[in-house]
Amino acid sequence: MDKWARPTYTPCLPLGDNRSLITGCEKHIALSRKAATEGTVLLKNDNQVLPLATGTKVAVFGKGQIDYVKGGGGSGEVHTAYIRNIYQGLKMKKGKVEVFDALSLYYQNYVEEQYKQGKILGMFDEADVPAELLNQAKTFTNTAIIVINRFSGEGFDRKNDGTDNYFYLSESEKQMVETVTSNFAKVIVLLNVGAMIDTGWFAYNDKISSAVMLWQGGMEGGLAAADILTGDANPSGKLVDTCAKSFDDYPSSEGFHESEDYVKYHEDIFVGYRYFETIPGKKDCVVYPFGYGLSYTTFALSDITACNVKDHILVSVSVTNTGAFHGKEVVQVYYGAPKGRLDKPAKELCGFAKTKDLEPGESQTLHITFAIEDLASYDDTGIIAKSCYVLEKGTYTIYVGTDVRTATIIDYTYTVSEDTVTKQLTSYGSPEKLDKRMKADGTYETLECQPVKRAEFLNHYHCAEKPEEKHPLLDVANGKVDLDTFIAQLTEDDLFYLLGGHSNTGVANTCGMGCLKEHGIPPIMTADGPAGVRINPNTGVLTTAFPVATALACTWNLELVEEIGKAGALECKENNLSIWLTPALNIHRSPLCGRNFEYFSEDPFVAGKMAAAKTRGIQSQNIVACPKHFACNNKETNRVESDSIISERALREIYLKGFEICVKEAKPRMIMTSYNIINGVRASENVELLQGVLRNEWGYDGMITTDWGNHACHAKEVKAGNDIKMHIGYPDVLKTAYENGELTREDLCICVKRILEMILWLD
Ligand code: GAL
Repeated sequence: MDKWARPTYTPCLPLGDNRSLITGCEKHIALSRKAATEGTVLLKNDNQVLPLATGTKVAVFGKGQIDYVKGGGGSGEVHTAYIRNIYQGLKMKKGKVEVFDALSLYYQNYVEEQYKQGKILGMFDEADVPAELLNQAKTFTNTAIIVINRFSGEGFDRKNDGTDNYFYLSESEKQMVETVTSNFAKVIVLLNVGAMIDTGWFAYNDKISSAVMLWQGGMEGGLAAADILTGDANPSGKLVDTCAKSFDDYPSSEGFHESEDYVKYHEDIFVGYRYFETIPGKKDCVVYPFGYGLSYTTFALSDITACNVKDHILVSVSVTNTGAFHGKEVVQVYYGAPKGRLDKPAKELCGFAKTKDLEPGESQTLHITFAIEDLASYDDTGIIAKSCYVLEKGTYTIYVGTDVRTATIIDYTYTVSEDTVTKQLTSYGSPEKLDKRMKADGTYETLECQPVKRAEFLNHYHCAEKPEEKHPLLDVANGKVDLDTFIAQLTEDDLFYLLGGHSNTGVANTCGMGCLKEHGIPPIMTADGPAGVRINPNTGVLTTAFPVATALACTWNLELVEEIGKAGALECKENNLSIWLTPALNIHRSPLCGRNFEYFSEDPFVAGKMAAAKTRGIQSQNIVACPKHFACNNKETNRVESDSIISERALREIYLKGFEICVKEAKPRMIMTSYNIINGVRASENVELLQGVLRNEWGYDGMITTDWGNHACHAKEVKAGNDIKMHIGYPDVLKTAYENGELTREDLCICVKRILEMILWLD
């Protein structure tokens, strides 16, 4: 096959076994189901009500059993051949569980009626159950299942203002819970949600014995739920977010909807468990801690050792399945830096590993290693050394366990005898308007608001001589001519054209780039998104919907996430799409962010590791991965104009950290900047973050794209090294800037070169 044959000719060449289609194939759907079960978190299981004994009769309450939310809306949407809901999933377990059909069918009618009225999936009230039906259900069984679901999507945030009840149960849901708990002896709760919601209502209710966090499990989510309920699968998911008692307990809640124009990140680095485990009195606000999750079996950790190997610490742990059910366990390693002059979280995750499926009695030794320099804190004000990562002197404690709260100190410490700078960096992206930030004792440090002089960067590009004969891009691929010489033949108009997105070809629906026929540059198409390849269903192409990113992160299984990356990449390739706009790794800062489901976690280490795994899987198939949205897109309301006001330390330790891990570990070929403003500068025009941090400090050598249709100035983006403007560019704006001398040919060429390098990398 010729180089770029797929993007050029969009042939119909299936990639499955025996020339079958790989897109939406059984194997990928089975992988999706496996991931959905593995990301399921068992939160409560008093009296071992779960797994259900064979033949258990159940009555299922809640519209969510029918109106199953497989994932969120917007770029995270996926169009599939079917979506298996929870009722259907349970019905497939014939002989193992018996469902009271009349009740489920009553909900089915109710949901269909709501859809007819134009109501949106996951966004309508619960139905009242007629007394007679309730009585019949009680006669049928003493075991009830309650399903609660939530939907959210791109472009809007959720609220808790009475008209929209996201975090808490709505009145109709509370009514349903009351009815069920007063009529059934055994009650199981299933949560079909994209990220953290209230869990206190069942955690502290003795009438509810079990609760399962299903997340939004993709197209087989209902069957995966049934796998868990019947014990065909043993849950091994662990929370990647803290479940707090009330919405107000999250430190971001106070200012989340304060303004449409800005978000002040006053809690600073104390996000998620870094807040709850550190700030005095806040431990009591936690219902389920970060890292937590039960199993149908029990595990014991033993023989925990640690040692110093060069510049790393190696922790070894033996895990034994001490129960009667086969299953997997996740071991988590946290460190506690000494209380020094810089405020520090009490514990921070620095490593994790998951066992294989252990049979009862079976053991496995896990080895977890991390770099000592990763225990350093960023000093943005110069208390010790300005703009440096510093290991403060003192004792670094290591904790090992299966969640952040119960992880215990091990018999090993690492001591630093004097304050040590591990990296001297430069002050980039610092705030002008941040008035205060949280300290480790819960009080606030007052900050001075003052204008910041931003750094300037020179774009270095040496224009080559124009060749005598004309060369197509293929000549570069074949080594006949170098890329700079190829670029030398392009006119300025060609350059303006290449710096913007172009219309769809084939089945693409999110546009593409390249497409300069007279120079042999093929059209290179993109596709969303984090839960699977999003193709317009009008094309007739239906793909695999995987569980949402939160669920994937809860698997703590990097190999599995890598496999999903590979599977999605193959679906892209089969459909002649070259760039998959995933992973998305912004931080779960507030439960109300509309796109939480697309993102992995409140913790940047988990987010970075997951993103790296997915990127590796995607790029192993020569499909471009595009981690997004760089950075601080943690709110959807007015996302194109909202200013994320944040300290440099929080930026580096929390909001950029995941990207840093992904870039350094997996070398993505593309990164997408976010819509929002960061400390007064739009993300895509932010030369300090793009050139200073991403390219210079981290050594990123891939290309950078804008988010689709942002509000930034194309010329400023080119100057900042945001290589392409999607989904369309503004050649006229570039032309004017070029003619005015604001942009040089070098500025244009350097961005075009990175776009062409990406294209050359493709098959
Ligand atoms: C944006 C979204 C991105 C992206 C793009 C293409 O609205 O923020 O994540 O994938 O659309 O659909």
